[in-house]
Amino acid sequence: MAAVATNQIFKNDIFNGKVLMCTGGGSGICRALTEAFVRHGGKAVIVSRTLSKLEKAAEEMRTATGGEVVAVAGDVRKPEDMENAVKATVEKFGALNYLINGAAGNFLAPFQFMSYNAFRTVIEIDLLGTFNATKAAVEHIKASKGAILNISATLYYTGTPYQQHAGSAKAAIDALTKHWAVELGPHGVRVNGIAPGPIAGTEGMSRLGVGFETESVPVGRMGDVKDIEQATLFLLSDGASYINGVTLVVDGGQWMNPNYVAYPDMVLTPVDLKGKL
Ligand code: COA
Ligand code: NAP
Repeated sequence: MAAVATNQIFKNDIFNGKVLMCTGGGSGICRALTEAFVRHGGKAVIVSRTLSKLEKAAEEMRTATGGEVVAVAGDVRKPEDMENAVKATVEKFGALNYLINGAAGNFLAPFQFMSYNAFRTVIEIDLLGTFNATKAAVEHIKASKGAILNISATLYYTGTPYQQHAGSAKAAIDALTKHWAVELGPHGVRVNGIAPGPIAGTEGMSRLGVGFETESVPVGRMGDVKDIEQATLFLLSDGASYINGVTLVVDGGQWMNPNYVAYPDMVLTPVDLKGKL
């Protein structure tokens, strides 16, 4: 089995004086990415809908790292909320170098149980949310010659069943990564993505990991948030200064496993999962 990525690969001051805004940074993978960034010298603002959750996470991260983490409530679907979060970031820390677009919503929904509003909701959170946060932040990131990281997924590579909403949103996000890489590169801004595989202990896994088998991952284990942390630190750092427009898959090779079948027990007998996951 492959070892989990460790926390000691990069020097602990590589983000000294740098500022990150992370949507979805109050929980799961993006909380871990934010904490790793602060542990390496940076300051961060975390943004999502639930202020109480954000404030608790920010306090815990400050205690764990001794660094600065600030919570700002906002819904990525609302451009004015993203404008406000960016303004708050720049007022607090004087600049905005990096943006991680991590806010997302997902659930398993066979086509017959996917309402018009269900599909639209996920497109609005994942895709429009990524655009809204980036549109609000982009001039500051250009001014600081920073970088943007879009959190994606491998769902659409294989047409994963019950995931048309999230898969198509992530496909479009990967397109944005490329469009922005080309358009913002001349301004000194790099834009990349990470497509995590199944990451242990996350909301995504608890919602989507029905029937997950470790054997489906070629390296023989589930992902750990540390695996995504290390990829993030690298892609945001100057060590990746010639990497632009790439979505890095961090999944232990799972999506390429020819024997991997998502939701094998459900493919022929789709059930309404609403309220059950
Ligand atoms: N199956 C099918 N449809 C579902 C569903 C499910 N499991 N869960 C929600 N929906 C539908 C709702 O019924 C509604 O459609 P309707 O109006 O036609 O009934 C639509 O999706 C929007 O739901 P609502 O709860 O009003 O949206 P919201 O904006 O409050 O919440 C969600 C967004 C649904 C994505 C919610 O699960 C969420 O907030 N998720 C964030 C955390 C998360 O998903 N983490 C995992 C990231 S991988
Ligand atoms: P998570 O903990 O549920 O994180 C999602 C975050 O998005 C939450 O903190 C949520 O906070 C926020 N959010 C949701 N809707 C929002 C909105 N409208 N506006 C602002 N914020 C919103 O899930 P996770 O599993 O760690 O996933 C994190 C990212 O990794 C997502 O982009 C996901 O698609 C991706 N991913 C995860 C996995 C996995 O195995 N977990 C695999 C592949 C990809 P609020 O509720 O406070 O708004």
